[in-house]
Amino acid sequence: MMKESAFVKKTKTSLHNLDFLKKPCVFDIVDSTNATARDFATAGAQEGTVVIARTQRQGRGRYERRWESPEGGLYLSLILRPESAYEKTSLLAFVAALAVAKTIRSYKVHATIKWPNDVRVNGRKIAGILLESEGQGQSIDYVIVGVGINLAVDLKDLSSRIQTRSTSLHHELQNPVDYHEFLNTFITAFEHYYKSYQEQRWDEIIDEWKTYSDTLGKNVRVKTMTGTLEGKAFDVDKSGFLLLLTSTGETKKILSGDCLYFDELDHA
Ligand code: BTN
Repeated sequence: MMKESAFVKKTKTSLHNLDFLKKPCVFDIVDSTNATARDFATAGAQEGTVVIARTQRQGRGRYERRWESPEGGLYLSLILRPESAYEKTSLLAFVAALAVAKTIRSYKVHATIKWPNDVRVNGRKIAGILLESEGQGQSIDYVIVGVGINLAVDLKDLSSRIQTRSTSLHHELQNPVDYHEFLNTFITAFEHYYKSYQEQRWDEIIDEWKTYSDTLGKNVRVKTMTGTLEGKAFDVDKSGFLLLLTSTGETKKILSGDCLYFDELDHA
């Protein structure tokens, strides 16, 4: 059931006045916060509108996968209306991953980012990010940034398929986490990095993402929409594409995919 809403006509926010948390739409349960945010964005909801739910019936993950959404998780979707070129959109996943990882680190838990945007602790996934966008050509109407974080999820509530590869902040800390405090810290961090994005300070975002990422330097296997590539991940480019050096000495540029580390393949 919807508890609160600040549904206003479509406007672009000024660069320095995003005020994300001032426009929260809080639900007990929805199918998917991304789907709800999409409906709102199509109806003209303002940039900065945040859709938050306690649980989701049909949480969506990357590549049409399901995002298991038991109670105790933080499930939210942000509506953005960025003015940058379409090719920079994938950097918004970097923005979100950085904000999540930074927030988790503020609890002295060492979160890292696996390209492009899985947030992990000790090699186990703690958060995932799903971008969905709408627009024509280079012009973006809106981008939905969906973030799912295993804040206080009881790992036993996750299916056996992902249980051993997942963790939660509660589990890592062995202590309860204040939901609202975490949410506030996350939104503040997101606003910080999104400001850099809006001001086109891409290098700052990428450089900081690299300090959080555990992907570069690793031998990886990346499953893409068109096939599987293997090689050493040696860099990301200005748009967040992964640069891979293959065994034949070729450089491959990958926009998006599922990245597995060879040194973890046994547990994948
Ligand atoms: C992934 O596959 O890693 C991305 C998972 C993204 C899940 C979040 S939960 C909130 C938002 N709503 C959804 O339906 N999905 C995203």
